[in-house]
Amino acid sequence: MLKDRYDNPLHTESAQARDAYVAGVDLFLAVDYGAVSQFETAVAADPGFVLGHAALARARMMDADGPGARAALAEARARRPEGAAQLHSHVTVFEQLLAGQPAAALETARAHLATQPRDAMIAQCCSSVFGLIGFSGRTGREAELLAFTASLLPHYGDDWWMLTTHAVSLCEIGQPAAADAMMDRALAMKWQNAQAAHFKAHSLYEQGQTEAGLTFLNDWLAGYDRRGLVHGHLNWHSALWALETGDEAAFWHRIETAVRPAVCQGLPINILTDMASILYRAELAGMRIDPALWHELSAYASAQFPRCGQSFVDAHAALAHAMAGETAELERVIAEAGSGFAGDLAVEIAKAWRAVAARDWQAATQHMIAGMANHERLGGSRAQRDLLEFALMGILLRLGRGDEARNLLALRRPGLMAMHPVAGLH
Ligand SMILES: [Fe+2]
Repeated sequence: MLKDRYDNPLHTESAQARDAYVAGVDLFLAVDYGAVSQFETAVAADPGFVLGHAALARARMMDADGPGARAALAEARARRPEGAAQLHSHVTVFEQLLAGQPAAALETARAHLATQPRDAMIAQCCSSVFGLIGFSGRTGREAELLAFTASLLPHYGDDWWMLTTHAVSLCEIGQPAAADAMMDRALAMKWQNAQAAHFKAHSLYEQGQTEAGLTFLNDWLAGYDRRGLVHGHLNWHSALWALETGDEAAFWHRIETAVRPAVCQGLPINILTDMASILYRAELAGMRIDPALWHELSAYASAQFPRCGQSFVDAHAALAHAMAGETAELERVIAEAGSGFAGDLAVEIAKAWRAVAARDWQAATQHMIAGMANHERLGGSRAQRDLLEFALMGILLRLGRGDEARNLLALRRPGLMAMHPVAGLH
């Protein structure tokens, strides 16, 4: 039986299907563009290729193509042979993901990986900051992510994807120097790896290395397909550093050409959260933001996320609605966000944004502190959740409590002490 690059049996005898599948998996794991067409080629070469259909479904999920993913999963299910337990659990993980059953998907994935740890397509679902562990809403999920990738690491040898994936965990648990070194190893093996470039940028950010980060990231980004899943998000990172260096022209260039909803081809969760975050962080840094941008983003949030429940999204949608003065939409989020995996925090943060918009700094302080308690449960990266850290500093400055704000930076984000995220902080 033919096998993939990780020696997993593929249950196909078509070399063409295998080659396209392996190429598609590499593009998918590297967060590069083109995985969908490779998986389409694979199943065209062998219509009975269950793993090819499953991978096509997974890649379409990441393209926000729900109907396409459902169709591919139906093919995988229909062609699944009797008694192939690992094929069955592989497909089941994706079915549970698509059905909105993340807790069940995580449980199935863990059981599957216990016997097939080198099934990277399944391991990928659980890894990084937007994965099943990242968005579990659980206390200690950063440590859980590290334990997860550490348990897989010995099974993979010197593999660029596994090194990348473990380095993400290291970065988010607070070991950015170790993460940076591991990302360099991964990039030396495969430069065209957007996830490694992404979290090398995170590692440099966490170490306050603004100039080195800008140089590395802008150089890497020049060769990245703008249809790649994190093209907009990597431009968000670049814009953050442009903000830090005071380069307004570079900042707006990144926003206007790659981050705004009208131009970004990434996932809606990235487009909304990145845009809300960068606009508010720019305001905190002292930049004037055209209210039309907040209105555009609020409308985008309402259209893309008519229902609450994704707590990381809800916390950012509330910010967009509050800044746009869209009171009804903001109140809807406050009323409904409690249903999310970290709903208690999302509701408090939404109330904090309401208070910020009303310039009620006392109430904003109380709600933001309540929402920030253990904010790892919201998911996303530390760099993304700095929105909350810096917002609280900005609120405290409004109350004339600058010493407290500076203490917060020193105590909670010591690696960023050299940064100037909030006007008037230093
Ligand atoms: Fe990021």
